Amino acid sequence: MLYVGIDLGTSAVKLLLMDGEGNIKNIVSKEYPLYFPNPGWSEQRPEDWYEQSMAGMKELLEGFDKSQVAGISFGGQMHGLVILDKDDNVIRPALLWNDGRTFEECDYLNNVIGKEKLSEYTANISFTGFTAPKILWIKNKEPENFAKIAKIMLPKDYIAYKLTGVHCTDVSDASGMLIFDVKNRKWSKEMCDICGITEDQLATCYESYEAVGTVLPEIAAQLGIPETVKVAAGAGDNAAAAVGTGTVGDGMCNISLGTSGTIFISSKNFGVDKYNALHSFAHADGSYHLMGCMLSAASCNKWWMDEIIGTKDYAAEQKQIEKLGENHVYFLPYLMGERSPHNNPNARGTFIGMTMDTTRADMTQAVLEGVAFALRDSFEVAKSLGIKIERTKICGGGAKSPLWKKMIANILNVKVDVIESEEGPALGGAMLAAVACGEYANVEEVAAKIVKVIDTVEPEAELVAKYEERYNQFKEIYPACKPLYEIIK
Ligand code: XUL
Repeated sequence: MLYVGIDLGTSAVKLLLMDGEGNIKNIVSKEYPLYFPNPGWSEQRPEDWYEQSMAGMKELLEGFDKSQVAGISFGGQMHGLVILDKDDNVIRPALLWNDGRTFEECDYLNNVIGKEKLSEYTANISFTGFTAPKILWIKNKEPENFAKIAKIMLPKDYIAYKLTGVHCTDVSDASGMLIFDVKNRKWSKEMCDICGITEDQLATCYESYEAVGTVLPEIAAQLGIPETVKVAAGAGDNAAAAVGTGTVGDGMCNISLGTSGTIFISSKNFGVDKYNALHSFAHADGSYHLMGCMLSAASCNKWWMDEIIGTKDYAAEQKQIEKLGENHVYFLPYLMGERSPHNNPNARGTFIGMTMDTTRADMTQAVLEGVAFALRDSFEVAKSLGIKIERTKICGGGAKSPLWKKMIANILNVKVDVIESEEGPALGGAMLAAVACGEYANVEEVAAKIVKVIDTVEPEAELVAKYEERYNQFKEIYPACKPLYEIIK
């Protein structure tokens, strides 16, 4: 049988075709625009996601025996607010996970409702990217749109709805809405009241590996697939990536170097960091996880290469980098503000430490190192909770760079396990579909059978020591710049 994984990302949708043994048969990627209508705002059109997902699926299945397709599922960019009217039309473009406009609503939630209450109801506090402050923003700033809302959905759930006609979501993605009682895996009545919505405006919540239905007859006809094809709820992209890298069960770690950068720690048991610096979310394997999320990771390198230097040859630029652990230029990667651990939408990208002999390679190196140092900030929070992490998996576009993996291994002082395929969320989506179709008994089983570690990047003592010194300098820069970010906004 064949399974389709749809990774609904921020720059593109990536579609992956997998057979029952876990062999990847085809991968297709389709881009769509990202809009920044005001500084710090970030939006996309759900209609673009759907059009490109369908176009991508047609291309993906070209030349394959379509009658063999059994299941479809997802990994999707998290937190985005999709609102539909009573006829299921999209009311306005979606506000995305990296949109920073809701600082007033976050302030209300965290400081008027209070962090203790939020944490009691949802296991989390408010960050500008989360969904509840977005709902409040629509309520406060666009009351005419708020009045029209019949259904509130997350990005990948809009695609599931278009494919099946079912308003559904899954526990991992629902966790990032701040309306979900993560511990008990159900909607929070208290948070619905706080947001001024009712539970029937929310979608039905499934476990990630559960089928929500089958494809609609017109979708089956358009794609040439059987009407019996099951659609599984899928997961937020980080939980799906964790499935795709085998980060399931207890105490496993995955780093994702995509548009965002995340550290994901799986856990059999529910737990909350007492400062809520890390997110406490449900996992796609039926358990839980903690996660730190930086808003700009591989996107910093893409910005530096594409927009500033003006090259597409990332590898050639990285070849010039020789002095690991000795760079005196630092880069703070806060191009979209920052979430974990600073929770500051006003933070900005910052270079510091240049001298007349600074080279282009030093600046490129600073960008790559800055992302790794910022990941370490979240890693330190996990360590302070007594979590011991000796090794991690890695996935996402940035994981293609051997140099970046080496920096991460040495800056975090962890072994970095490289997986045969770094297609985390798309592969995870296909694996969840395979579980929903009964090809595997559960998520742990499919991960154990399919995911293969092919290499390990080991930290080197001398480099770890050099980077320790550099990190100690790096972590002084944000507190010093923080008051300036308030002035230059
Ligand atoms: C996680 C987060 C990002 C997006 C990126 O909390 O906001 O990783 O899911 O797609």
